[in-house]
Amino acid sequence: MQVLVTGGAGYIGSHTLVCLLDQGYEVVVYDNLINASAEALSRVEKLTGKTIDFVQGDVRDTDSLDDLFATRSIDMVIHFAALKAVGESAQCPLEYYQNNVHGSLCLLEAMAKAGVNNFVYSSSATVYGEANPSPYVETMNLGSPSSPYGAGKVMVERILLDKARANPNFRAVSLRYFNPIGAHPSGDIGEDPTGIPNNLLPFITQVAVGKRDKLRVFGGEYPTSDGTCVRDYLHVMDLAEGHVAAIDWLATQPSFRGVEAFNLGTGNGISVLEIIASFEAATTVKIAYQTVEPRAGDLPAFWANAEKASNVLNWQAKRSLAEMMEDAWRWQSKNPNGYS
Ligand code: NAD
Ligand code: UD1
Repeated sequence: MQVLVTGGAGYIGSHTLVCLLDQGYEVVVYDNLINASAEALSRVEKLTGKTIDFVQGDVRDTDSLDDLFATRSIDMVIHFAALKAVGESAQCPLEYYQNNVHGSLCLLEAMAKAGVNNFVYSSSATVYGEANPSPYVETMNLGSPSSPYGAGKVMVERILLDKARANPNFRAVSLRYFNPIGAHPSGDIGEDPTGIPNNLLPFITQVAVGKRDKLRVFGGEYPTSDGTCVRDYLHVMDLAEGHVAAIDWLATQPSFRGVEAFNLGTGNGISVLEIIASFEAATTVKIAYQTVEPRAGDLPAFWANAEKASNVLNWQAKRSLAEMMEDAWRWQSKNPNGYS
């Protein structure tokens, strides 16, 4: 079975490639490398002993997509390609809607032309918005995320529902990720943010490796056990396996039509201070930090109800918080400058 992986050179995509290749799937990677390095793909090839068919291109380039589908026998598509800096999306909303929403439309149109009907979409817990209480369950109505990034995720989920209503052969899975962290246990692939990291774990590992002075903990007076924000952190390899579970499920449910959404999280809420303590315990490296003002747009606490993924996809996050920290640190210490 041949799987097209858009954004496959990125953080979650590269880890998913390892799992797909290990399971015997053939992959085609389509990525414009705007936030990734081809080195990640070389490392995936070394880790798996398999070859990757890589095409450098943009999901908004419809001619290039048509050519891609015409020259391969693609059965399924996993669509990771997107811009993902939430704060930046508020500064340049049009660029985010262009890339993430219009890009998804171009891909869906190319799939329709080529008669490819199986789609796995990278959605996010952000689609639940602030009105829903945690744990988030898939039956909740989607909210109105404040950022253009989050709004784009809601729009594409809506587009998938409308597409499925209009096309009775269309089959899609929306995977709503909670907070992926960590790296492949080899330390050879991992998260390689450009510039100053926005997300918590890459910031912590850069403090640990001496690239940043100290972590700024955004807010210390939230209504949580220790005053800091609570999130559902899951190991990126568990998340990667969730994609294989989704592909396997689509492959073994030939009569399924429509769209199913699944939360991919652990079901546990962990605070920022707990993350720092857990990193220090797993690595014996001390993290200097200072509590500062809350970050605009942050919700105090959210975590997943992940029962549907367990019941339907037979997927559960299995790796511990300590493994997430050890693997994130192995990647950062082996690659202080990422892939460059
Ligand atoms: P990433 O930036 O590491 O990977 C995205 C990849 O897409 C990159 O390789 C980039 O070069 C590529 N890309 C971007 N725009 C493209 C375009 N127009 N055409 C072709 N390629 C393009 O991000 P990630 O963390 O691996 O995220 C993957 C997906 O998961 C994204 O859709 C993101 O919104 C979603 N997601 C991520 C998180 C997270 O915490 N990392 C959480 C929820 C959802
Ligand atoms: C954010 C996005 C989410 C997106 C995800 C991956 C928001 C509201 N949510 O999730 O939509 O899918 O990134 O790109 O932006 N923190 C610090 N100091 C730091 C960095 C983070 O204290 O330097 C805290 C944050 O306040 C938050 C927690 O750590 O409480 C996790 O932050 P982060 O890794 O950015 O993820 P989210 O904000 O949960």
